[in-house]
Amino acid sequence: MNIKIADLEFEPLISGEAIQARTKEIAAQLNEEYADKAPIFVGVLNGCFMFMADLVKRINVPCEVAFTKLSSYHGGVTTTRRISDDFDLLVDIANRHVILVEDIVDTGHTLDYLVAKLSHRKPASITVCALLLKPDAIEYSIKELKHIAFRIPNEFVVGYGLDYMELGRNLDGIYKRVV
Ligand code: IMP
Repeated sequence: MNIKIADLEFEPLISGEAIQARTKEIAAQLNEEYADKAPIFVGVLNGCFMFMADLVKRINVPCEVAFTKLSSYHGGVTTTRRISDDFDLLVDIANRHVILVEDIVDTGHTLDYLVAKLSHRKPASITVCALLLKPDAIEYSIKELKHIAFRIPNEFVVGYGLDYMELGRNLDGIYKRVV
């Protein structure tokens, strides 16, 4: 069923059930890869909050959870490339295995910035786990981007943590803009 958020109309793209099934698969891979590594999951707020919660619930190896906050969309439907560092990651990641959890990689500008920033803190490794990737929009080659739940068309989406004008984050599936 189509929905309206503020002035825009959206149609279903990925169901809540499909997200849960895919999250389970990614968690199973991470459980194998990080069995003896005591990783730190670092969520990139605000968009990551649902994916992060559903992912870490399925992690059965010892792990820590932390957050940082960046923003680059500033309310609209296109990226501004103006990144605000809203709050920094407060844990020491030196010699630790970091799993960055992102909602969506669009141009890759935000992620490229964050990976470079965290790399300076000398972690043992950084891997990125993203819920969504827009392959037709990406402009950066980010070797750390290893786990991608879904590849989607280059269109604006909301739901499951992602917003339009701060609305729609509560939806349990992903919806794309009807143009
Ligand atoms: P990038 O820097 O262009 O990769 O943009 C990344 C950030 O822009 C994400 O973390 C989101 O906050 C936001 N973003 C990108 N595409 C969308 C979208 O389709 N819907 C909502 N937010 C988006």
